[in-house]
Amino acid sequence: MRVCVIGTGYVGLVTGACLAHIGHHVICVDNNEEKVKLMKAGQSPIFEPGLSDIMLSAIQNQRIEFTTDMEAGVTHGEILFIAVGTPPLPTGESDTRYVEAVARGIGAHLNGGYKVIVNKSTVPIGSGDWVRMLVLDGVAERQKSLVTVGGGTADQRAAELDTKFDVVSNPEFLREGSAVYDTFNPDRIVLGSNSPQAISLMQELYTPIIERQFAADPALPPVPVVVTDINSAEMIKYAANAFLATKISFINEVANICDRVGADVTEVAQGIGLDSRIGNKFLQAGIGWGGSCFPKDVSALIHTADDYGYEAHLLKAAVNVNQRQRLIAVEKLQQVLKILKGKTVGLLGLTFKPDTDDLRDAPALNLIEHLNRLGTKVKAYDPIVSQTGMRHGLTGVLVETDPERLADGCDALVLITDWQQFRNLDYGKMASLMNNPVMIDGRNFLDREKLQRAGFYYVGVGH
Ligand code: UDX
Ligand code: UDX
Repeated sequence: MRVCVIGTGYVGLVTGACLAHIGHHVICVDNNEEKVKLMKAGQSPIFEPGLSDIMLSAIQNQRIEFTTDMEAGVTHGEILFIAVGTPPLPTGESDTRYVEAVARGIGAHLNGGYKVIVNKSTVPIGSGDWVRMLVLDGVAERQKSLVTVGGGTADQRAAELDTKFDVVSNPEFLREGSAVYDTFNPDRIVLGSNSPQAISLMQELYTPIIERQFAADPALPPVPVVVTDINSAEMIKYAANAFLATKISFINEVANICDRVGADVTEVAQGIGLDSRIGNKFLQAGIGWGGSCFPKDVSALIHTADDYGYEAHLLKAAVNVNQRQRLIAVEKLQQVLKILKGKTVGLLGLTFKPDTDDLRDAPALNLIEHLNRLGTKVKAYDPIVSQTGMRHGLTGVLVETDPERLADGCDALVLITDWQQFRNLDYGKMASLMNNPVMIDGRNFLDREKLQRAGFYYVGVGH
């Protein structure tokens, strides 16, 4: 099928490349010329495992193109994905101005056959009708300009535009760091629309994935497809992320109580996770959740509830627990080192989770700011950020090029991100380079005994 994906960020580029990989012909549109130049040369602007390989093979098979030309993309696609970012505003609401610009832009170029416009971006509940209105506004503006430029009556000109379309909500559930895997192995596909024609085209688009033709285990039963109304589809996205974030805040709260009563949260998580009603995933205690989705989606849902006069107490509590948890390492550093002023702390990892270069709303950023305020010097080593240098605009932290340079002269290390390679560093050597071999394991990720053998005073979260 002919697909256009507008916005080639973490979600759009993965979606476009994966749809090309399963056999569709995809045009990816982005208004960032530099990004488009990179992608045309076969380079991914983001670090995402497996993405470069499928991008390159799709380019070689002529199944994917990259352009800044919205008209070319809209003309090409029978299915048009809106995948631009919806970052949070200071009020907690989503900033939907990019979705608005794209929806109008689609309207301005619609002409030729029925199209399905898909909201892939996480948009506030009720955005389906709003996008339809904006697309129609774009169409109307174009009609006006045709009337001015061309001859004939307004009706004659307008009738020449073929602008039939439906809007579908098709939220993404891709985890950064495993987004390609998640695309080919989804737990479910959610389609929100009241148009049978649009739903049927979306099902056709996803058939190879539904039938698990590209799955790690093709023998599994087909992927469940949830067909629902557009508002429910939008709510499913928010509710899923809010639930997962709340689950993590819950285990973090339990960890804090474990710390006080002398229980081990890892054992507790295993013990409760074996109950199939609870499940063992997303029960890893640590320094809190971050990233481009959980914080903004939970805030946006709280804000939506507020718009309707409902105070979302539970969600607010999940956010409050998380804000406090992000600074749990400071509490632990103070317990061990007492005075932090004039000390040097090294952070192992900066990104909000492993296998990504994404620093959006990363707990490390709050910690750096807070330690700086206490007069502590902060250094960091991150497998990706250290390689890509200072393009991230980090302040208040000296980014080191390897773990041993990081350890040199530190009074304590804090493990921030559970990068696999951190399990096997030369901790004996690192301890010998430190003023004080203290390790605050912010993800309960390292082997306590191994660290102790290497000479570290080891502190985890909740045990
Ligand atoms: C996506 C979503 O769409 C968001 O709603 C969801 O919650 C998380 O995932 P993400 O892929 O992280 O956002 O966004 P980002 O990495 O910021 O990429 C957005 C892309 O859209 C950028 O490449 C940007 O250049 C492009 N863009 C933005 C346009 O092409 N046109 C615009 O008008 C605005
Ligand atoms: C999330 C959703 O999981 C995904 O479905 C999509 O909607 C986009 O948003 P992502 O933000 O990429 O994905 O990462 P995720 O794996 O969900 O982790 C989010 C944060 O929670 C990270 O900071 C991670 O470190 C933290 N986390 C996760 C925990 O602290 N404990 C856990 O047990 C799991």
